[in-house]
Amino acid sequence: MFEKFFFRKNEKRREAGRVSGGLHKIPTHVAIIMDGNGRWAQERGLPRIAGHREAMKTVKKVTRETSRLGVKVLTLYAFSTENWRRPKKEVEYLMKLPQQFLRSYLVELIENNIQVRVMGDMSRIPDYTMRAIHQAVSRTKQNDGMILNFALNYGSHSEIAEAFRTMIHDVRSGKLDEEQVDEKIVSGYLLSKSLPDPDLLIRTGGEIRLSNFMLWQLAYTELWFTDTFWPDFDEDDLHEAIRDFGKRQRRYGGLKENRSEK
Ligand code: FPP
Repeated sequence: MFEKFFFRKNEKRREAGRVSGGLHKIPTHVAIIMDGNGRWAQERGLPRIAGHREAMKTVKKVTRETSRLGVKVLTLYAFSTENWRRPKKEVEYLMKLPQQFLRSYLVELIENNIQVRVMGDMSRIPDYTMRAIHQAVSRTKQNDGMILNFALNYGSHSEIAEAFRTMIHDVRSGKLDEEQVDEKIVSGYLLSKSLPDPDLLIRTGGEIRLSNFMLWQLAYTELWFTDTFWPDFDEDDLHEAIRDFGKRQRRYGGLKENRSEK
């Protein structure tokens, strides 16, 4: 079993080496669907929550490296509106992760000028989780380095439905003229309103789907999928994704790599 993991890791490093070179184009906003924690644990005969525990280490690694590379926003899909369907014990463990993570890492986030944010429906989040999040958000709100944005109890469909509700309310109350509703106005009603759309989406764990994640915002995002489970994802994998992003020509439906000319 060990041999298998050792081989896989070395193989990954060799592959990363092959594409090595300059990281000349750094995406402004990287969004990540962190998948494969459960399978990582199962492969080792461990309970699924051991995979989530290990996942936190990867979150730290990737936060450090994206910030070091000059990424401006890192959005991590930490808990979806569908994840409540998991066994109670697993949900409870997942809800404890922000607290655990921030307890061991908030000081480093502050030192590195990182600003913590959260995006999702906070109404179902337990009090102890909310307290940790509020503390992290308020202690980092003056920071003007990378934004570390956790999507927590987040689902794109419910985000869009809520945007519709608010928009209809604003039209009815005269706050918004329906003739003015365009793409920019719609974006302004979403939870990501103050953030640029992601330039690069990474999904680990081998599935090739978006799982109700930032569906509006990902319209022109470059997608990058890997079989690597999130707990095994490392700096080499991140570099590989960013290098691949650097090779893509983004045309936004037009002919040149310039969104304003679309
Ligand atoms: C998907 O893997 C992962 C999740 C549902 C949870 C993601 C959470 C983390 C990576 C930790 C977040 C850390 C902080 C600091 C909030 P899965 O369980 O669906 O894996 P599987 O597809 O192999 O079953």
